[in-house]
Amino acid sequence: MIKFLDLHKINKRFHKDYETAFKQSLKDSHFILGKNVLNFEAAFANYCGANYCIGTANGLDALTLILKGYIHLGKLKKGDKVMVPANTFIATILSVIHAGLEPVLVEPCKNTYTLSITNVKQQFTPKIKAIIAVHLYGQLADMEAFAEFSNTHNLLLFEDAAQAHGAETSLGKAGNLSHAAAFSFYPSKNLGALGDGGAVTTNHKDLEQTIKLLRNYGSKEKYNNEIIGVNSRLDDMQAAFLNIKLIHLDADNEKRSAIAKTYLREITNPKIQLPKYNGSKKHVFYAFVVEVEDRDGFIKYLEANAVAWLIHYPIPPHKQKALALLSHLNLPITEKIHKRIISLPISPVMSIKEVQAVIKVVNNY
Ligand SMILES: Cc1ncc(COP(=O)(O)O)c(C=O)c1O
Repeated sequence: MIKFLDLHKINKRFHKDYETAFKQSLKDSHFILGKNVLNFEAAFANYCGANYCIGTANGLDALTLILKGYIHLGKLKKGDKVMVPANTFIATILSVIHAGLEPVLVEPCKNTYTLSITNVKQQFTPKIKAIIAVHLYGQLADMEAFAEFSNTHNLLLFEDAAQAHGAETSLGKAGNLSHAAAFSFYPSKNLGALGDGGAVTTNHKDLEQTIKLLRNYGSKEKYNNEIIGVNSRLDDMQAAFLNIKLIHLDADNEKRSAIAKTYLREITNPKIQLPKYNGSKKHVFYAFVVEVEDRDGFIKYLEANAVAWLIHYPIPPHKQKALALLSHLNLPITEKIHKRIISLPISPVMSIKEVQAVIKVVNNY
């Protein structure tokens, strides 16, 4: 069986370094907001080219804390509307709801699957105060266009960069292309921890200070609570592991891109619609997503031929039971995408033999 993502193999490369870091953590016993978190925050801010990084418990909290941070700073208020892509992972939308704001779902561009500037412009109303662009599947959204639009209308612009660690354009890297960005270090991500983890990056000191308070019970000093906060700190042990992995992120992204380029060159089956990709570093291929007409048939075929698959994501957020309040929305592009997409195996530890085997199976479909 060709695995979708071999997490054991991904992490095995670093077992020795993890063990050293684990032993050191036990020795230091500074488990909450210790020096590993401080080191990781400095290193990841530097990696993204942003002034600040604040570690959080996960990616959903990172998104929510950005929004709550700007509510605290008086730049957003309860009930304000926030534009999000309709075809995102549910966390993007949940963060808006958790912050007491109202999500406005916008159809994506059908070629890139990222938020469409044309649709943003069409759906814009003065009640909209912020946009969260999602770098879906590892591909940067059109941040230049969103920045221009946000400036014109005085909106806050955010990135959901949970799937795009290291993606870059001439403007900069994911995490440094908006007012603030949220990252997830969920184990399967391009930069994945050995458990949950997340971070916010920003160039705005007021937001950094606020999120540092919010994530830690509203407290700078122990038992002195300045604002109503939550408990959402990046675990110090996870930060130690992330420090080890961050060094290899660029090389791992290169391997993902090389596999993607091979798929694009060698998958020639007309029944498989390949992703549009211009070879730039704008895409770090968290997922290699193709479209197929008869997805159920294709799944059966892949399974019979021992190729693992996933769907990112099988049910669009507005059709989820949890978001019944959005079920009336008419989002034909999103619904069509969710019916046709399927992700092929891609990871920095896939062998050439495995890549070739996937290509052969897909071409024979
Ligand atoms: C696009 C996107 N946003 C947000 C998240 C939330 O991250 P987490 O699972 O760390 O809360 C994820 C990942 O799960 C994601 O893929």
